[in-house]
Amino acid sequence: MSFTFDSRIGLGTWQMGENSRSESQEIAAIEAAIGMGYQLIDTAEMYASGHVETLIGKALKHVGASTREALQIVSKVLPSHASTKGTIAACEASIGRMGCEYIDCYLLHWQGSYSYESTLEGMIALQERGLIRSYGISNFDAPDVRDWLAAEQRVGSPYQTMCNQVYYALNARGIEYDLIPLLQEKGISLMAYSPLGAGELMRNPQLIAIAKEVNLTPAQLALAWIMRVSNAVAIPKTVNHTRLEENLAAEDLVLEAGILAKLDRAFPPPLQKKPLMVI
Ligand SMILES: NC(=O)c1ccc[n+]([C@@H]2O[C@H](COP(=O)([O-])OP(=O)(O)OC[C@H]3O[C@@H](n4cnc5c(N)ncnc54)[C@H](OP(=O)(O)O)[C@@H]3O)[C@@H](O)[C@H]2O)c1
Repeated sequence: MSFTFDSRIGLGTWQMGENSRSESQEIAAIEAAIGMGYQLIDTAEMYASGHVETLIGKALKHVGASTREALQIVSKVLPSHASTKGTIAACEASIGRMGCEYIDCYLLHWQGSYSYESTLEGMIALQERGLIRSYGISNFDAPDVRDWLAAEQRVGSPYQTMCNQVYYALNARGIEYDLIPLLQEKGISLMAYSPLGAGELMRNPQLIAIAKEVNLTPAQLALAWIMRVSNAVAIPKTVNHTRLEENLAAEDLVLEAGILAKLDRAFPPPLQKKPLMVI
């Protein structure tokens, strides 16, 4: 059975775990997110050198094992670990830190020096063992996706690439030119990272003005705008409980054509190929 994401807004966790004084607040935020209905958590072995996964593990312990099946966890292998053996070992270590038994979607964080084939062999072995439910990629532009899919064919994977996690926000629309159409054609989910422009968009006067008009917060407008893309999931990060609620509420919002047109004028779509933006 092929894997799909059960929800369209998830919790980002980058930049958590970096200060021991904020740890209890961060664990509480992850617990609160699960309690209020977040079904998706994004993390990576890179975040605070694995420590974010440890914090997620503590939150999961507090909320209880019964919530595991209702939750989808995304994590990522560093390119420097992405040999076949290294991918398997990194995934096992991530699962150990989170105490989560399996990872729902395991991504190659970005391209490194290992061949795609060697990483894919690791992903396939992990999925065969039930340690991951699906695999995918991150920071892959359209030509890289094509190369990855060709490697997937060469190794004869019985599974499919489920997701490409890339920077996508009102201030980073370049992927609309060719990457989004390619992902839609191939049936690969787009996971939009930094959907609030890493917080920067929240201070944009044009976004603030349009949001006021439709009685939404700037964050909700920025997230609802991503929701118009049929295969997109967004993973805003916050540790603030009010903002967690605010962001999750954007999942079901549908923007009218007139508002989308105003956003297009303020944040124009790409008219030509642009290099993939990365953070
Ligand atoms: N694959 C990759 O290479 C990659 C790269 C970057 C990010 N990511 C993933 O994507 C996630 C999200 O990206 P991000 O953390 O860079 O940026 P983001 O989610 O676009 O923005 C996060 C910033 O916005 C603030 N914020 C969140 N909700 C808000 C709201 N409702 N109103 C006002 N401010 C709000 C947060 O502050 P507070 O926390 O103080 O609320 C934080 O400063 C990451 O956490 C990570 O999981 C992946």
